[in-house]
Amino acid sequence: AKAVRDRLRIAIQKSGRLGDPSRALLTACGLDWRESRDRLFCYGESLPVDLLLVRDDDIPGLLADGVCDLGIVGRNVLDEQAAEREQAGVVPVAKELRALGFGGCRLDIAVPDDWDWQGPEQLRGCRIASSYPQLLRRWLAGQGIDAEVVMLSGSVEIAPRLGQADAVCDLVSSGATLAANQLKPVLTLLRSEAVLAGPVAPFADARAELMQLLLRRMDGVLRLRH
Ligand code: PRP
Ligand code: ZN
Ligand code: MG
Repeated sequence: AKAVRDRLRIAIQKSGRLGDPSRALLTACGLDWRESRDRLFCYGESLPVDLLLVRDDDIPGLLADGVCDLGIVGRNVLDEQAAEREQAGVVPVAKELRALGFGGCRLDIAVPDDWDWQGPEQLRGCRIASSYPQLLRRWLAGQGIDAEVVMLSGSVEIAPRLGQADAVCDLVSSGATLAANQLKPVLTLLRSEAVLAGPVAPFADARAELMQLLLRRMDGVLRLRH
């Protein structure tokens, strides 16, 4: 059984695209923190809601392990982990509670600029590099396309030039990274944005009420932003 807790712990990205807007959203919800020197853990002052600053990719795992109660993470990261758990036959532990309206991007398949793109059939027998192997495999299976997935945790865009892959499946925001690597997006697998991720089952301790309070405030903030 999990420990009874009376503080809520939220994981957000330490640095990178989602970090600052995540913090700004939580601040707009009336939260504030006494900053610790290493700034990995921020102790909540106005409410017992603490922050943990981590790598975005670690957030689903922290939720799964019960280390954190809520997380702000890209839908792409959350969905990839959910697909991985499904594949492994384990129950989901985190779900999307709210879409947050920032950090918008797409998970796209991109091919070298000089390909004459005809359609998904062209991917048959190709090696596709991605940090989202589960989402890519699921999509390929749905299309009935047999292709090899090359898992890379970073620098996916350089794989075709290095001869590691023929195409990539990566996040696209402005499109600058693809363009700088002579790649062009041809298909979208997922439209993503930052989401609030939280438990599938409600808390049975003081965190339940804290979470209701936070969600109410967040809904108010999100409504005003529209
Ligand atoms: C993504 C993706 C590309 C970049 C694309 O990485 O992997 O590197 O953004 O953005 P652009 O279209 O605006 O050039 P990101 O930095 O979001 O996350 P990561 O550090 O977890 O790879
Ligand atoms: Zn990341
Ligand atoms: Mg990147």
